[in-house]
Amino acid sequence: MSEPLTVEDLLRVGTRVLSDSTAIFEDHDNEDEARELLALTLGIDDDDLDDDHEPARRQREKYLSLVARRAAGEPMPFLRGFIDFYGLELRVRPGAFVPRPSSELTVDRALKRLGRRRNPIVVDVCAGVGPIGMAVASERSDADVWALDISEEGCKQGRANARRLGVKNISFGSGDMYEPLPTKYHGEVDMIVAHVPYIPADEVDDLPDEVKVYEPMDTLTDSSHDGLFLMRRAVSEGAELMKPGGWLLLEMSDDMASKAKRLYQRAGFRDVSTVTDEDELSVVVEGRKSPS
Ligand SMILES: C[S@@+](CC[C@H](N)C(=O)[O-])C[C@H]1O[C@@H](n2cnc3c(N)ncnc32)[C@H](O)[C@@H]1O
Repeated sequence: MSEPLTVEDLLRVGTRVLSDSTAIFEDHDNEDEARELLALTLGIDDDDLDDDHEPARRQREKYLSLVARRAAGEPMPFLRGFIDFYGLELRVRPGAFVPRPSSELTVDRALKRLGRRRNPIVVDVCAGVGPIGMAVASERSDADVWALDISEEGCKQGRANARRLGVKNISFGSGDMYEPLPTKYHGEVDMIVAHVPYIPADEVDDLPDEVKVYEPMDTLTDSSHDGLFLMRRAVSEGAELMKPGGWLLLEMSDDMASKAKRLYQRAGFRDVSTVTDEDELSVVVEGRKSPS
């Protein structure tokens, strides 16, 4: 086949290479990603790509190398350097979990459940670079948000984003689960949100490389056979920290929801329910701590 020279040829080749990749999820829109990578290379908006234009050789090479990196599994947010989450441009680098657009449902639910509570204390545990907590903090300037993660790298990237975006009402703390939360907040928390690692240990191998090679293993799984080890802790230890009437919102896949609901009920939560988004990509289990 002749060397691809025009935008049209380059997009055709890029889309085919991405479609043939076994390192990325099958449900990606490969054509869209090829367009985005070419636009990124040319420094233009993808709507401005002109099929007949012939980019310079060095631009074509750069584009094809980005396509090759993507086909090898490198996540799009690493290639572009950021992800747009709830209207916030969050920078992400290797070494931390890449925020997923499906977590926006957790933010929607958190804002709804916070309702008119004033000056709420919100804890985002297993926060990674902090997308959920950051979005809540940015939407609710009266909230005092704590984003906690065992990974110092996740907290470092989160702090840098908060500084750059001017989100002042979020604090990051690194440590095991709730351990970094200052004791003065114990019993005072209005809401806990979390997207804990929950993939059962023996299912990790089935994930494509874009996840299992490019994201740290302990961001994906807690290594337990049922994937519930950290979820159990999020529920039982979280119940101790919350005010009566405080909300616990955990994001997960729908096959975990019925087990998670039982954990809530056993820990004394009421109004336990499951909420899903239109695409059914994400499920949030919600429950309210009973009055003591
Ligand atoms: C699935 S990721 C979610 C990250 C973030 N909430 C998001 O949605 O982008 C799970 C996170 O849990 C963190 N984690 C794993 N074990 C932990 C523990 N024992 N205590 C606190 N965080 C932990 C990982 O470092 C990772 O950032």
